Amino acid sequence: MFRVPLCSLLLLSAPLLLGAAHRVYNVSQRTFELDYSHDRFLKDGLPFRYISGSIHYFRIPRFYWEDRLLKMKMAGLNAIQMYVPWNFHEPRPGQYEFSGDHDVEYFIHLAHELGLLVILRPGPYICAEWDMGGLPAWLLEKESIVLRSSDPDYLAAVDKWLTVLLPKMKPLLYQNGGPIITVQVENEYGSYFACDYDYLRFLAHRFRYHLGNDVLLFTTDGANENFLRCGTLQGLYATVDFGTGKNVTQAFLIQRKFEPKGPLINSEFYTGWLDHWGEPHSTAKTEVVAASLYELLARGASVNLYMFIGGTNFAYWNGANTPYAPQPTSYDYDAPLSEAGDLTEKYFALRNVIQKFKEVPKGPIPPSTPKFAYGKVALRKVKAVAEALDILCPNGPVKSLYPLTFIQVKQYFGYVLYRTTLPEDYNGSMPIFSSSFDGVRDRAYVSVDGVPQGILDRDSGKVLYIQGKAGAVLDLLVENMGRVNYGRYIRDFKGLISNMTLNFSILTNWTIFPLDTEAAVLSHLGGWEAHGDSRHDGHLTFGSSNFTLPTFYVGNFSIPSGIPDLPQDTFIQFPGWTKGQVWINGFNLGRYWPARGPQVTLFVPRHILTTSAPNNITVLELERAPCTDGTSELCTVEFVDRPVIGSSLAISGRFPDRSGQDSQLNTL
Ligand SMILES: *[C@@H]1O[C@H](CO)[C@@H](O)[C@H](O)[C@H]1NC(C)=O
Ligand SMILES: *[C@@H]1O[C@H](CO)[C@@H](O)[C@H](O)[C@H]1NC(C)=O
Ligand SMILES: *[C@@H]1O[C@H](CO)[C@@H](O)[C@H](O)[C@H]1NC(C)=O
Ligand SMILES: *[C@@H]1O[C@H](CO)[C@@H](O)[C@H](O)[C@H]1NC(C)=O
Ligand SMILES: *[C@@H]1O[C@H](CO)[C@@H](O)[C@H](O)[C@H]1NC(C)=O
Ligand SMILES: *[C@@H]1O[C@H](CO)[C@@H](O)[C@H](O)[C@H]1NC(C)=O
Ligand SMILES: *[C@@H]1O[C@H](CO)[C@@H](O)[C@H](O)[C@H]1NC(C)=O
Ligand SMILES: *[C@@H]1O[C@H](CO)[C@@H](O)[C@H](O)[C@H]1NC(C)=O
Ligand SMILES: *[C@@H]1O[C@H](CO)[C@@H](O)[C@H](O)[C@H]1NC(C)=O
Repeated sequence: MFRVPLCSLLLLSAPLLLGAAHRVYNVSQRTFELDYSHDRFLKDGLPFRYISGSIHYFRIPRFYWEDRLLKMKMAGLNAIQMYVPWNFHEPRPGQYEFSGDHDVEYFIHLAHELGLLVILRPGPYICAEWDMGGLPAWLLEKESIVLRSSDPDYLAAVDKWLTVLLPKMKPLLYQNGGPIITVQVENEYGSYFACDYDYLRFLAHRFRYHLGNDVLLFTTDGANENFLRCGTLQGLYATVDFGTGKNVTQAFLIQRKFEPKGPLINSEFYTGWLDHWGEPHSTAKTEVVAASLYELLARGASVNLYMFIGGTNFAYWNGANTPYAPQPTSYDYDAPLSEAGDLTEKYFALRNVIQKFKEVPKGPIPPSTPKFAYGKVALRKVKAVAEALDILCPNGPVKSLYPLTFIQVKQYFGYVLYRTTLPEDYNGSMPIFSSSFDGVRDRAYVSVDGVPQGILDRDSGKVLYIQGKAGAVLDLLVENMGRVNYGRYIRDFKGLISNMTLNFSILTNWTIFPLDTEAAVLSHLGGWEAHGDSRHDGHLTFGSSNFTLPTFYVGNFSIPSGIPDLPQDTFIQFPGWTKGQVWINGFNLGRYWPARGPQVTLFVPRHILTTSAPNNITVLELERAPCTDGTSELCTVEFVDRPVIGSSLAISGRFPDRSGQDSQLNTL
């Protein structure tokens, strides 16, 4: 990855372009239309095409929105494309979040002030490698719901959401003085099995009802006739998406079958590609992307680069593909701006291409933000999850004869602890497994009387041999690793979704603890003092298990004084740790899993750090911490100034490349 020389780091970030004065527009002059007779757009009556880049405000802290947008502007883009994830804004039915990092209107205003137009993609389904493709998990409270269809319960929820969101967007439309030139309906609907035109008609109708008849609505589908057949609708302008591997002529011929006239549009031209845990980091070669962009622009097409900056799946927001393969915390995407917003070689190469077709802004490009290696921080064990249930589950557990799903206990993300007792003595020759093929979603950390037994995994490990006496406490801490975001199986229930059997009979009488990890971490787990329960010391007391109990570790570090401009961004890595979740000062940075890879470091944006007090690190290690095998005294994490998201060390190398992409091992 290209990095600017150190001296330029002294230039501070974005010059303040944001004048306080709001510009006043002659609204009646602002028009944005299709010009069918000349295969182009007309903006205020003049020929127009966009060169746009995708940015997801929900993957970038608000603190950095302006910096990233300005870098996009300086690359020569005249527009940005953005999704709106419904589940990010309506975490529980009727409870809306639109402030702080959720302030989508402010984000659009910032783009506007910088002179960037906006291509809005409000879903309601967005895919985006985002939990459940942006749909709220609570929709699954109706178990039989058919998502993305005319299912009346789905439509009722969608209708209610659009009635909240779209009126906020209306004043931001181009013709109303704002930056939004076009609005996408649904997302790649043609690749979904339902092929329900009534659903598309419903959406088109609601979009027009809320946004007015002047709004230019469009659809996007993979450049394949079958996809466009189910994804397009009269009155919605049909566009296609495709990457570097595709023959541009052929791809646009597909669009032409559905739109004989009008602008050619690639709504997602891939600058890189997504990752999955356990697969090599995806990359796309700069020369290939640049050549392909040149070809698209030379044809006069309007293009959106997906992604221009990928950002981060903070907390629990990553999605998954099927067969079940969750995406990691980084959504770097090998995009022109890195996950941390750094300028890359690809950024400058694409800027050079754009420069051949239009003027790019003069003046300094905001430099990559400086990074700082704060070094090693020792963590100490505080308490196992099972010892902190009073703090993690203050409302107490739910009792149920048979297991309940996350949805049934109204927990949407994170972890639920399922507890019962062993009916008889087991000497390690009896297997526990789920009664259905993938009944454990997605990963259960199993222990008996505080002795770790191993893992049951949706993807691989399906059977576990149990040791313990009759009456011993059997705990399954189940992790939701991210809901499926693409394809037929987006109705992804979490938790124990079927019965568990032991010695081939069904286990009953469960005590189920929904865990509120965020509140518990913010309350410092009720105090940092370690508990002295020797039963839960986490060591391998017997059995062949190579696991320790899911346990919280804490530590803190101070920002050094005497160095100007601290705190700065950094990356945290987990030498010897296995898999878990990490918070700094209560901010949930996401999942780490260096034992699986390819991601090894997590991005730590500087705005969550403070110089005025020690910064608290909380780690929930689910499998095995480095200090529990008797060979080392301390568990340490380390802050470094370079990201490692493509480690080849952690990968077993058994995974195939994704078709049509240059996927290769790549250590940044
Ligand atoms: C706004 O534009 C319209 C149409 O071009 C024009 O008739 C009107 O005079 C303009 N108003 C102002 C205040 O400039
Ligand atoms: C792309 O497709 C067009 C139309 O089918 C064809 O004429 C052309 O040779 C193809 N180009 C390449 C590089 O394969
Ligand atoms: C397993 O179940 C069978 C009856 O189905 C019973 O005879 C046997 O004792 C059980 N074994 C253990 C170890 O619980
Ligand atoms: C466990 O008990 C069974 C009989 O119930 C016996 O066949 C088996 O050898 C025992 N296994 C071990 C590891 O002790
Ligand atoms: C568990 O088994 C019982 C009895 O067969 C059945 O009624 C129940 O639906 C099952 N529960 C799940 C979650 O599969
Ligand atoms: C489950 O609980 C019920 C009610 O408390 C009790 O009657 C039953 O014996 C329990 N079953 C098992 C297997 O412990
Ligand atoms: C346990 O796992 C660690 C880390 O994967 C490995 O280094 C170690 O050899 C394993 N120990 C045993 C006894 O399998
Ligand atoms: C910070 O860490 C030090 C050990 O490095 C410890 O003594 C101190 O109690 C910690 N402070 C807090 C607030 O946890
Ligand atoms: C760190 O935790 C301590 C409590 O142990 C708390 O007093 C302090 O405010 C926390 N620091 C920050 C920066 O949140």
